[in-house]
Formats: sequence, C-alpha cells, structure tokens
Amino acid sequence: MTKILVTGGAGFIGSNFVRYLINHTDTSVTVLDKLTYAGNRESLRGLPKNRFTFVLGDICDASLVHELVRRNDLVVHFAAESHNDNSLRDPSTFISTNLVGTYTLLEAVRRYGTRYHHISTDEVYGDLALEDPDRFTESSPYNPSSPYSATKAGSDHLVRAWVRSFGVEATLSNCSNNYGPYQHVEKFIPRQITNVLDGGRPRLYGAGLNVRDWIHVDDHSSAVLLITTEGKIGETYLIGADGERNNKEVVETILELLGQPRDAYDHVNDRAGHDLRYAIDSTKLRMELGWRPIFSDFNTGLAATIEWYQANEAWWRPQKAQTEATYARVGQ
Ligand code: NAD
Ligand code: TYD
Repeated sequence: MTKILVTGGAGFIGSNFVRYLINHTDTSVTVLDKLTYAGNRESLRGLPKNRFTFVLGDICDASLVHELVRRNDLVVHFAAESHNDNSLRDPSTFISTNLVGTYTLLEAVRRYGTRYHHISTDEVYGDLALEDPDRFTESSPYNPSSPYSATKAGSDHLVRAWVRSFGVEATLSNCSNNYGPYQHVEKFIPRQITNVLDGGRPRLYGAGLNVRDWIHVDDHSSAVLLITTEGKIGETYLIGADGERNNKEVVETILELLGQPRDAYDHVNDRAGHDLRYAIDSTKLRMELGWRPIFSDFNTGLAATIEWYQANEAWWRPQKAQTEATYARVGQ
C-alpha cells in the first residue's frame, strides 16, 4: 500500500483528489494544509479514519515538511495561492506559498528520495488569440501574465531544475480550468451559480468573450493518478478535456439550467491584464498514457455542479458575503 502526502488537500482540487484516491485505490492519505481562506475542513468530511490523516500546517515550514515527506512514498503538491484576482490585489502570499513552499517541498523530497508530482496550470503559457487555431502543448513557451501565473511558472522551473541538478524523481502536469463540487465561491463558475441562487445576477468581466478550456475536477484527478503511476520521470503532461467555451456562453448556460432568462447577467469591470484564451492539446497524455476524460459533455457536468451547490448551501454560505464585498470594492 502506498502512502501519499497531498498538500493543499483541503482546497478545491486537492479535496476532490483525496476523495478520488480513497475511492479508486487502497492508498493511505495524509493531507498537509494551512487552511487559508481557501481551505475548508468540511471538504474532507466523512473520509475513513484508518486511511486518512489531516495535518494543519504550512508548506513553508521546513521541519514539518521534512517529517511528513520522510513518512510517505509519494508527494502530490496542490497547495497554492490559486486566484488571479487576489494576486493582483496582493501578490505577497503567492511568492511565499507558490515559490518558497515548492522549494521547501523539493528540498525534502531530494533529501529522502521521495517521488514527487507537481500540480500546475496552463496559465504558465500566457494566452492565445481568440481566433488562433493553435492550442498549448508541452513545448509551448512560458509567458505568464499575472503574479499568480508567474509564481506557478517559477515553481515549475524549480521542479525541472531539481530533477536535472539533483536527480529528484518528479513529474509535472499543467491542467486547464477545473469545475465541480467544493470550488470556492470566488471562482467564476461557483460565483455565478451562487449569485443566481441568492436572487442576484452573474457578473461578467468586460465583454465576456474570454475563453477558458473547462475540465471536470474528477477528470483532472484521474489524469494525476495515472501520471503518478505511469508517467515518465522528468516529464510534463498537459491535462485538458477539449472544453473551450467563452465566459458569456458559460453564464448563459448556467442561467438556462437555473430557469432564468439567458441575458439576466451584468457586465462589470474587466480584470487587469485579463488573459484572452487558454486551450490545451492533451495528445501526449492520451497517446502515451492512454488517458480519457469521463465528463465529455460540459453541460451535463455543469448541471451536476449546479445541483451540488443547490444541495450544499451550508458549505458555501459562510464565504459568500465576504467574497462579494471584496469584489464590490473593485467594481466587480
Ligand atoms: P484552492 O485555492 O481551492 O486550494 C488551495 C489549498 O492550498 C487550500 O486548501 C489552502 O488552505 C492550501 N494552502 C494555501 N497556502 C498554503 C500553505 N502555505 N501551506 C499549506 N497549505 C496551503 O486551489 P485549487 O483551485 O484547488 O488549486 C489547487 C492546485 O491546482 C494549485 O496548485 C493550482 O495552481 C492548480 N490548478 C488549479 C486549476 C483550477 O482551475 N482551479 C487549474 C489548473 C491547476
Ligand atoms: P477564474 O475562475 O478566476 O479562473 P482563471 O482566472 O484562472 O481563468 O475566471 C475564469 C474566467 O472568468 C476568467 O476569464 C475571468 C472570468 N470571470 C468573470 O467574468 N466574472 C467573475 O466574477 C469571475 C470570478 C471571473
């Protein structure tokens, strides 16, 4: 039985990945999470006590990290400051968590010879033009736009340097935008769903024509698990499910699924430096490792996600007012 340390396991993707591991493998899982505003212990409720341990702590805390890495066979590193809009207001925690935190983990896996998988984003590649037929591949040049994506890009480079210079056994994955249950209401899809559930209206940045390549979080989890078992050391795999949509189309679908007029949304101030389009070509992952997404129909996955937010108001309600107050200060 493998022992896996999951950093950031109380966040959106980390908590879904932990549940995926418990349901699809016989591994035992330790989560290391600082429980920032984005972490929620409730997202890990009900996991079997004999296979799951929660440790409250910071990935920048070297002695704690070394102790936990020493006791595990594999580290899957999700912990990050993850929201572009926050990184524009205050980049400082992005520098410490995304860069220093990753460095701290790399030094620990180097010391104990522990297998490491690094979770990253397609945003490290910058953006594509709306009409560009191209998509990102593993050989696209790095060109990050925001403090968030710049720190994620820096952390990817650290991993590759630790592989090459110190022989660390690492793989990397860069995934497109995730949606699904347990995503914080600051993010696009949960914000719009919960606005409508609250009797309010979706809020589209600018004209709403920016394109994101949506993937269900369970498909991200299945890809990461496959890479940890079948991936080649030192390699990077792009994860995407051919889910390109512009933001306006997503909002219109959410409104329709919730029985509202498709045009019942507001345009608000655009994001500074707003990336136009992300799109992933996941041929390498599909051809070399045989991965396929399960949630191939975005509207079906979105409908299930809406049902989850309808059924789990107690989970998102405590964050909603504060999140909206923060957006209101910048006219969003
Ligand atoms: P999230 O913000 O929902 O969760 C982040 C988690 O990390 C939280 O539980 C938080 O408490 C924890 N954390 C933050 N700082 C920490 C620290 N210093 N020490 C320990 N724990 C800390 O983020 P998410 O959306 O689940 O993203 C997870 C990872 O996936 C990130 O690395 C992100 O860059 C990457 N990613 C996200 C997406 C997406 O669409 N959300 C897409 C591709 C890649
Ligand atoms: P987001 O969920 O923040 O993810 P990312 O910035 O990593 O792509 O935003 C997704 C898209 O939705 C992005 O183009 C910004 C836009 N957006 C809105 O139009 N309105 C909103 O209220 C939010 C939060 C985002």
